[in-house]
Amino acid sequence: NFPKSVNVREVGPRDGLQNEKIVIETADKIAWINQLSDTGLSYIEITSFVHPKWIPQLKDAVEVATGIERKTGVTYAALIPNVKGLERACAAKIDEASIFMSASETHNQKNINKSIVETFPILKEVVEGAKQEKMTTRGYISTVFGCPYEGQVDIEEVIRVAERLFEMGIDELSLGDTIGVANPLQVQLVLDRLLHYFPKEKLAMHFHDTRGTALANVVAALEMGVTTFDGAVGGLGGCPYAPGASGNAATEDLIYMLNGMGIETGVLLRKLLKASKMIATKLEKSLPSHNLQAFLSS
Ligand code: HMG
Ligand code: MG
Repeated sequence: NFPKSVNVREVGPRDGLQNEKIVIETADKIAWINQLSDTGLSYIEITSFVHPKWIPQLKDAVEVATGIERKTGVTYAALIPNVKGLERACAAKIDEASIFMSASETHNQKNINKSIVETFPILKEVVEGAKQEKMTTRGYISTVFGCPYEGQVDIEEVIRVAERLFEMGIDELSLGDTIGVANPLQVQLVLDRLLHYFPKEKLAMHFHDTRGTALANVVAALEMGVTTFDGAVGGLGGCPYAPGASGNAATEDLIYMLNGMGIETGVLLRKLLKASKMIATKLEKSLPSHNLQAFLSS
């Protein structure tokens, strides 16, 4: 009983590049995002307007956002931690503001230098400001399935944070398995609780594949009726403030699987693989994506 189509949110240029040692040149980022825009993806998170000292890899956020070709029908999103970030994002004409925080206190503190309670008013200001600028908004909750510092995370904490973010008026909520510890049964138990409170149409899943469970978790979430999934081309990704976090579900692996299941995504796998190969070349290393490996050896 799978859906006919799903929404895929490409987060590679943000989640992917924030975790790489090599800093990709601005012109190469722009060329890569332009390639991604041409794959049929309808959503690309292109950068983040965080403090450049915290994520130096993305300090050219304004140049990237103003340098790319905007394709009609594609939403260009970026992470925004506070009003200072929103100002930069507005100047760069970002379509969607993605706010983010964690369900666990320690990761929130390490990642954005605030307690959970201190974070709410900051994000509320961002959502209000973004709406005034006619931007859509997305919220992320990190450490939904486990925290690198605290271990298990209480689902009630996730619900409390989600409620606050939806009260602010976010359009979509992405549930992050930041360090890739979730399993399909846990995904279904967590979603079973969350779906009592929030509509499945407003939820997205953001699985990191640290332990090889990301695609199995996608299927588990599909079975629960969720139809929006984040992926990073090449299987890039990770959070520098979450030790042990590695790449997201590779978008091409996600697309390959969904294609095979007869679920539409609108994304052309062949073009995506070319974009994946391009960034692997620039990063001078092989990437975790299974489909990229298969493509390169065929
Ligand atoms: P802070 O140091 O507490 O900031 O950092 P502050 O508000 O105290 O300000 C200090 C200085 O920073 C001030 O400058 C501000 O103007 C400046 P000064 O007056 O000292 O000269 N500043 C900024 N400059 C540029 N852009 C800004 C900005 N904000 C303040 N936006 C802050 C707080 C949130 C900024 C910092 O902790 C930060 O940037 N953290 C980002 C960390 C990050 O990007 N982590 C990775 C993304 S989250 C993730 O990967 C998880 C996700 O993928 C989901 C999942 O997998 O779970 C989304
Ligand atoms: Mg992530």
